[in-house]
Amino acid sequence: MVKVAFFQTAPTFGTIEENVEKVVKKLESPAMEGVRLVVLPELFSTGYQFRSKRELSRLAEPLRDSIAVRALCSVARRRKMHIVFGMAEKDGRRLYNSSVLVGPRGVGGVYRKAHLFWDEKKLFDAGNTPLRVYPAGSLKVGMMICFDWVFPEVARVLALEGADLICQPANLVLPYCPSAMITRSIENRVFSITANRVGTEERIKGKTLKFIGLSQIVSPDGTVLKRAGSIRPQIGIAEIDIKAARDKWITPKNHLFRDRRPAMYRRLLKK
Ligand code: ACM
Repeated sequence: MVKVAFFQTAPTFGTIEENVEKVVKKLESPAMEGVRLVVLPELFSTGYQFRSKRELSRLAEPLRDSIAVRALCSVARRRKMHIVFGMAEKDGRRLYNSSVLVGPRGVGGVYRKAHLFWDEKKLFDAGNTPLRVYPAGSLKVGMMICFDWVFPEVARVLALEGADLICQPANLVLPYCPSAMITRSIENRVFSITANRVGTEERIKGKTLKFIGLSQIVSPDGTVLKRAGSIRPQIGIAEIDIKAARDKWITPKNHLFRDRRPAMYRRLLKK
Protein backbone atom coordinates (compact mmCIF):
# COMPACT_ATOMS: atom_id res chain seq x y z
CA MET A 1 0.00 0.00 0.00
CA VAL A 2 1.20 3.50 -0.80
CA LYS A 3 0.04 6.67 0.91
CA VAL A 4 -0.86 9.41 -1.58
CA ALA A 5 -2.44 12.82 -1.12
CA PHE A 6 -3.81 15.99 -2.61
CA PHE A 7 -3.24 19.40 -1.11
CA GLN A 8 -6.06 21.79 -2.05
CA THR A 9 -4.67 25.30 -1.61
CA ALA A 10 -5.87 28.91 -1.83
CA PRO A 11 -3.03 30.87 -3.43
CA THR A 12 -2.82 34.64 -3.34
CA PHE A 13 -2.19 35.99 -6.83
CA GLY A 14 1.38 37.05 -7.59
CA THR A 15 2.98 36.20 -4.25
CA ILE A 16 5.15 33.27 -5.29
CA GLU A 17 7.36 33.14 -2.17
CA GLU A 18 4.39 33.20 0.22
CA ASN A 19 2.39 30.62 -1.72
CA VAL A 20 5.36 28.27 -1.87
CA GLU A 21 6.29 28.83 1.77
CA LYS A 22 2.76 27.97 2.97
CA VAL A 23 2.83 24.71 1.04
CA VAL A 24 6.33 23.79 2.22
CA LYS A 25 5.28 24.31 5.84
CA LYS A 26 2.34 21.94 5.45
CA LEU A 27 4.34 19.33 3.56
CA GLU A 28 6.88 19.34 6.41
CA SER A 29 4.15 18.96 9.06
CA PRO A 30 3.30 15.71 10.91
CA ALA A 31 0.03 15.55 8.89
CA MET A 32 2.07 14.42 5.88
CA GLU A 33 4.01 11.70 7.71
CA GLY A 34 4.39 8.63 5.48
CA VAL A 35 2.88 10.25 2.37
CA ARG A 36 4.89 9.12 -0.67
CA LEU A 37 3.26 11.31 -3.32
CA VAL A 38 1.29 14.54 -3.11
CA VAL A 39 -0.40 16.57 -5.85
CA LEU A 40 -0.82 20.37 -5.69
CA PRO A 41 -3.04 22.59 -7.87
CA GLU A 42 -2.35 24.07 -11.29
CA LEU A 43 -0.34 27.34 -11.13
CA PHE A 44 -0.22 26.95 -7.35
CA SER A 45 2.70 29.37 -6.92
CA THR A 46 1.43 32.31 -8.98
CA GLY A 47 -2.36 32.18 -8.97
CA TYR A 48 -4.40 31.90 -12.16
CA GLN A 49 -5.88 35.07 -13.62
CA PHE A 50 -3.06 36.92 -15.37
CA ARG A 51 -4.12 40.28 -16.81
CA SER A 52 -1.77 40.09 -19.75
CA LYS A 53 0.99 38.11 -21.36
CA ARG A 54 3.41 40.69 -20.01
CA GLU A 55 2.24 40.01 -16.44
CA LEU A 56 2.50 36.26 -17.02
CA SER A 57 6.00 36.68 -18.43
CA ARG A 58 7.03 38.61 -15.31
CA LEU A 59 5.79 35.85 -12.98
CA ALA A 60 6.69 32.76 -15.04
CA GLU A 61 9.99 31.07 -14.16
CA PRO A 62 12.47 28.87 -16.00
CA LEU A 63 12.48 25.47 -14.31
CA ARG A 64 16.13 25.71 -13.29
CA ASP A 65 15.62 29.08 -11.47
CA SER A 66 12.14 28.41 -10.14
CA ILE A 67 11.46 29.18 -6.49
CA ALA A 68 8.80 26.45 -6.43
CA VAL A 69 11.03 23.82 -8.05
CA ARG A 70 13.92 24.56 -5.71
CA ALA A 71 11.81 24.58 -2.54
CA LEU A 72 9.82 21.47 -3.44
CA CYS A 73 12.91 19.49 -4.53
CA SER A 74 14.34 20.21 -1.13
CA VAL A 75 11.15 19.05 0.66
CA ALA A 76 11.01 15.93 -1.55
CA ARG A 77 14.58 15.09 -0.57
CA ARG A 78 14.01 15.62 3.15
CA ARG A 79 10.69 13.78 3.24
CA LYS A 80 11.58 11.11 0.66
CA MET A 81 8.41 11.88 -1.26
CA HIS A 82 7.33 12.85 -4.78
CA ILE A 83 5.41 16.05 -5.46
CA VAL A 84 3.43 16.99 -8.58
CA PHE A 85 2.56 20.66 -8.95
CA GLY A 86 1.47 23.24 -11.51
CA MET A 87 3.52 26.32 -12.32
CA ALA A 88 3.95 29.01 -14.97
CA GLU A 89 7.05 27.95 -16.90
CA LYS A 90 9.20 30.21 -19.03
CA ASP A 91 11.38 28.59 -21.68
CA GLY A 92 13.12 31.32 -23.68
CA ARG A 93 10.27 33.40 -25.11
CA ARG A 94 7.73 30.61 -24.64
CA LEU A 95 5.32 30.46 -21.71
CA TYR A 96 3.77 27.19 -20.62
CA ASN A 97 1.16 26.12 -18.10
CA SER A 98 3.20 23.21 -16.77
CA SER A 99 3.01 20.34 -14.33
CA VAL A 100 6.27 19.24 -12.73
CA LEU A 101 7.14 16.02 -10.92
CA VAL A 102 9.92 16.28 -8.36
CA GLY A 103 11.34 13.62 -6.08
CA PRO A 104 14.29 12.96 -3.79
CA ARG A 105 16.59 13.04 -6.84
CA GLY A 106 15.26 16.31 -8.29
CA VAL A 107 13.02 17.01 -11.26
CA GLY A 108 11.62 13.73 -12.59
CA GLY A 109 9.26 14.93 -15.31
CA VAL A 110 7.53 17.91 -16.91
CA TYR A 111 4.23 18.10 -18.78
CA ARG A 112 3.11 21.27 -20.56
CA LYS A 113 -0.68 21.67 -20.76
CA ALA A 114 -1.89 20.55 -24.17
CA HIS A 115 -5.50 21.81 -24.06
CA LEU A 116 -5.61 25.43 -22.98
CA PHE A 117 -8.82 26.72 -21.40
CA TRP A 118 -10.54 29.99 -22.36
CA ASP A 119 -8.23 33.05 -21.88
CA GLU A 120 -5.23 30.78 -21.32
CA LYS A 121 -5.15 30.68 -25.13
CA LYS A 122 -4.17 34.37 -25.16
CA LEU A 123 -1.46 33.89 -22.56
CA PHE A 124 0.24 30.53 -22.83
CA ASP A 125 1.81 28.53 -25.62
CA ALA A 126 0.11 25.16 -26.17
CA GLY A 127 2.08 22.32 -24.64
CA ASN A 128 4.67 20.44 -26.70
CA THR A 129 5.69 17.65 -24.32
CA PRO A 130 4.66 14.05 -25.00
CA LEU A 131 2.11 12.28 -22.79
CA ARG A 132 4.60 10.20 -20.84
CA VAL A 133 4.70 8.10 -17.72
CA TYR A 134 7.36 8.71 -15.08
CA PRO A 135 8.54 6.60 -12.13
CA ALA A 136 7.71 7.99 -8.69
CA GLY A 137 8.96 5.47 -6.13
CA SER A 138 6.98 2.27 -6.71
CA LEU A 139 4.34 4.13 -8.76
CA LYS A 140 4.22 4.96 -12.45
CA VAL A 141 2.55 8.33 -12.82
CA GLY A 142 1.17 10.32 -15.72
CA MET A 143 0.35 14.02 -15.59
CA MET A 144 -2.48 16.02 -17.11
CA ILE A 145 -3.65 19.51 -16.23
CA CYS A 146 -7.19 20.65 -15.45
CA PHE A 147 -9.11 21.10 -18.76
CA ASP A 148 -7.27 18.12 -20.29
CA TRP A 149 -10.02 16.06 -18.60
CA VAL A 150 -12.42 17.02 -21.43
CA PHE A 151 -10.24 15.10 -23.87
CA PRO A 152 -10.49 11.43 -22.90
CA GLU A 153 -7.59 10.67 -25.23
CA VAL A 154 -5.20 12.14 -22.65
CA ALA A 155 -6.06 9.73 -19.85
CA ARG A 156 -6.26 6.84 -22.33
CA VAL A 157 -2.79 7.50 -23.74
CA LEU A 158 -1.35 7.76 -20.22
CA ALA A 159 -3.02 4.46 -19.27
CA LEU A 160 -1.71 2.79 -22.44
CA GLU A 161 1.75 4.11 -21.56
CA GLY A 162 1.45 2.25 -18.26
CA ALA A 163 0.28 4.83 -15.72
CA ASP A 164 -0.92 3.47 -12.37
CA LEU A 165 -1.94 6.92 -11.27
CA ILE A 166 -2.91 10.07 -13.16
CA CYS A 167 -2.00 13.28 -11.34
CA GLN A 168 -4.13 16.29 -12.30
CA PRO A 169 -3.20 19.71 -10.95
CA ALA A 170 -6.29 21.87 -11.57
CA ASN A 171 -7.89 25.30 -11.23
CA LEU A 172 -11.44 24.18 -11.97
CA VAL A 173 -14.23 26.69 -12.47
CA LEU A 174 -16.75 24.47 -14.31
CA PRO A 175 -18.60 21.85 -12.23
CA TYR A 176 -18.12 18.72 -14.34
CA CYS A 177 -14.57 17.51 -13.76
CA PRO A 178 -14.92 15.65 -10.43
CA SER A 179 -17.58 13.35 -11.95
CA ALA A 180 -15.73 13.05 -15.25
CA MET A 181 -12.52 11.96 -13.53
CA ILE A 182 -14.40 9.10 -11.87
CA THR A 183 -15.22 7.91 -15.38
CA ARG A 184 -11.62 8.45 -16.57
CA SER A 185 -10.46 6.23 -13.69
CA ILE A 186 -13.03 3.52 -14.43
CA GLU A 187 -12.56 3.48 -18.21
CA ASN A 188 -8.76 3.26 -17.84
CA ARG A 189 -8.60 1.32 -14.59
CA VAL A 190 -6.17 3.81 -13.04
CA PHE A 191 -6.03 5.79 -9.84
CA SER A 192 -6.45 9.54 -10.27
CA ILE A 193 -5.70 12.47 -8.02
CA THR A 194 -7.23 15.84 -8.86
CA ALA A 195 -5.78 18.69 -6.79
CA ASN A 196 -7.89 21.78 -7.30
CA ARG A 197 -7.73 25.16 -5.59
CA VAL A 198 -10.37 27.15 -3.73
CA GLY A 199 -11.13 30.87 -3.48
CA THR A 200 -11.94 33.51 -6.07
CA GLU A 201 -9.94 35.82 -8.33
CA GLU A 202 -11.28 38.97 -9.95
CA ARG A 203 -8.22 40.65 -11.37
CA ILE A 204 -10.11 41.58 -14.53
CA LYS A 205 -13.23 43.66 -13.95
CA GLY A 206 -16.42 41.69 -14.52
CA LYS A 207 -14.54 38.38 -14.86
CA THR A 208 -14.84 36.75 -11.45
CA LEU A 209 -13.44 33.25 -11.28
CA LYS A 210 -14.67 31.03 -8.46
CA PHE A 211 -12.64 27.86 -8.08
CA ILE A 212 -14.72 24.84 -7.08
CA GLY A 213 -12.35 22.84 -4.83
CA LEU A 214 -13.65 19.26 -4.54
CA SER A 215 -10.18 17.78 -4.94
CA GLN A 216 -10.30 14.01 -4.92
CA ILE A 217 -8.54 10.66 -5.00
CA VAL A 218 -10.32 8.01 -7.09
CA SER A 219 -9.58 4.30 -7.41
CA PRO A 220 -9.68 2.23 -10.64
CA ASP A 221 -13.20 1.00 -9.80
CA GLY A 222 -14.47 4.57 -9.46
CA THR A 223 -14.55 4.68 -5.67
CA VAL A 224 -13.93 8.20 -4.37
CA LEU A 225 -11.39 7.43 -1.65
CA LYS A 226 -11.16 11.06 -0.52
CA ARG A 227 -12.91 14.26 -1.56
CA ALA A 228 -12.38 17.80 -0.26
CA GLY A 229 -15.01 20.47 0.25
CA SER A 230 -15.38 23.51 -1.98
CA ILE A 231 -14.45 26.34 0.39
CA ARG A 232 -11.32 25.69 2.41
CA PRO A 233 -7.73 24.58 1.83
CA GLN A 234 -7.52 20.91 2.72
CA ILE A 235 -5.26 17.88 2.60
CA GLY A 236 -6.74 14.51 1.63
CA ILE A 237 -4.80 11.29 2.12
CA ALA A 238 -5.55 7.73 0.97
CA GLU A 239 -3.69 4.43 0.93
CA ILE A 240 -3.71 2.82 -2.48
CA ASP A 241 -2.79 -0.66 -3.72
CA ILE A 242 -1.22 -0.25 -7.16
CA LYS A 243 -2.09 -3.85 -8.06
CA ALA A 244 -5.65 -2.60 -8.65
CA ALA A 245 -4.41 -0.38 -11.49
CA ARG A 246 -2.23 -3.07 -13.07
CA ASP A 247 -5.07 -5.57 -13.43
CA LYS A 248 -6.79 -4.60 -16.70
CA TRP A 249 -9.24 -7.52 -16.70
CA ILE A 250 -12.81 -6.17 -16.44
CA THR A 251 -14.37 -9.63 -16.43
CA PRO A 252 -12.53 -12.97 -16.84
CA LYS A 253 -13.19 -12.55 -20.58
CA ASN A 254 -12.77 -8.80 -21.09
CA HIS A 255 -9.39 -7.10 -21.11
CA LEU A 256 -9.48 -3.31 -21.19
CA PHE A 257 -6.67 -2.95 -23.73
CA ARG A 258 -6.76 -6.23 -25.66
CA ASP A 259 -10.49 -5.92 -26.37
CA ARG A 260 -10.01 -2.55 -28.05
CA ARG A 261 -10.75 -2.33 -31.80
CA PRO A 262 -8.22 0.26 -33.00
CA ALA A 263 -8.95 -0.46 -36.67
CA MET A 264 -12.50 0.78 -36.07
CA TYR A 265 -11.31 4.00 -34.40
CA ARG A 266 -8.74 4.94 -37.01
CA ARG A 267 -10.96 7.19 -39.16
CA LEU A 268 -12.22 9.00 -36.08
CA LEU A 269 -8.71 9.60 -34.74
CA LYS A 270 -7.67 11.18 -38.06
CA LYS A 271 -10.51 13.74 -37.95
C1 ACM B 1 -8.70 25.03 -16.43
O1 ACM B 1 -8.22 24.32 -17.32
N1 ACM B 1 -7.92 25.71 -15.61
C2 ACM B 1 -10.15 25.14 -16.23
